[in-house]
Amino acid sequence: MAFKGKVALITGGGSGMGRTAAQLLAKQGASVAILDVNEEGMKETAESSATIHPFVVDVTDTDAVHALVEQVERDLGPLDRIANAAAIMPFGKLLEQDPKVQLKLMQINYGGLVNVATAALPAMIQRGKGDFISFSSMSGVIPGLMMGGYCATKAAVQMYTEILYHENINSGIRFVCACPPPVSTPLWKQAEATVMPKLIEGGETLTPEQVLEDIEQCLEHGEFLSMPGKGTKFGYKMRRFLPGQIWKHTHKVEGF
Ligand SMILES: NC(=O)c1ccc[n+]([C@@H]2O[C@H](COP(=O)([O-])OP(=O)(O)OC[C@H]3O[C@@H](n4cnc5c(N)ncnc54)[C@H](O)[C@@H]3O)[C@@H](O)[C@H]2O)c1
Repeated sequence: MAFKGKVALITGGGSGMGRTAAQLLAKQGASVAILDVNEEGMKETAESSATIHPFVVDVTDTDAVHALVEQVERDLGPLDRIANAAAIMPFGKLLEQDPKVQLKLMQINYGGLVNVATAALPAMIQRGKGDFISFSSMSGVIPGLMMGGYCATKAAVQMYTEILYHENINSGIRFVCACPPPVSTPLWKQAEATVMPKLIEGGETLTPEQVLEDIEQCLEHGEFLSMPGKGTKFGYKMRRFLPGQIWKHTHKVEGF
């Protein structure tokens, strides 16, 4: 999709992949509404272009998200693209991580998606065109020790988006669910501040641009799952056909 004159809404636009996605679309001439709780981060994102419009909104606030979508469509125009990048990623063993943190993970990473989808998709579907992008993760496909709270949210994101896609299969909307391996963004600081699984340390890291390019390719070719990076698709097949091998390897690496 050429983006000159189009309108996009991106959650998590104050950092990482949400920021890069906003800046790339604005460069192509789009008006981009970014939504985040990180006001400073959004200011930095918006510095690169007058067509990036920051909004301080918490994705877990259903009423605020619905009101924002209405406002954006009124002020900037009907949405052509929605990207759900807002997330948090504290790690920890499931029985050691504060249950409130585990529930907050679900509220933000999964609940935010539910709020944005229900706010923005009905009108987009009525118009019969547009792109809807979710950010799941390789962690939504392959389970990891000490990452259970986060993995559960990403599995939920993937399942929700897949059903959303199939419930609206002939709507004209292009759906993509991104499942990247680790990407070099500030999200990792949260994991580092908690506990870092050995399996992840020193592994492959993609750039936000590589992930976003793969998403564009998937949108263009009608592929639902975006799995950028060497070995990502292989990992998906391993999980599907040889889950025991993944667990064996995981226990060996983590040492318990
Ligand atoms: N970085 C990775 O390694 C990686 C890998 C696979 C998938 N992902 C997924 O990609 C997406 C983007 O990740 P990123 O690496 O760019 O992260 P990031 O931390 O750089 O950006 C996430 C943004 O979400 C915002 N956010 C957090 N809670 C919010 C809330 N309640 N309301 C609104 N905004 C909120 C943060 O303030 C932050 O600006 C996430 O969904 C993440 O789970 C990341």
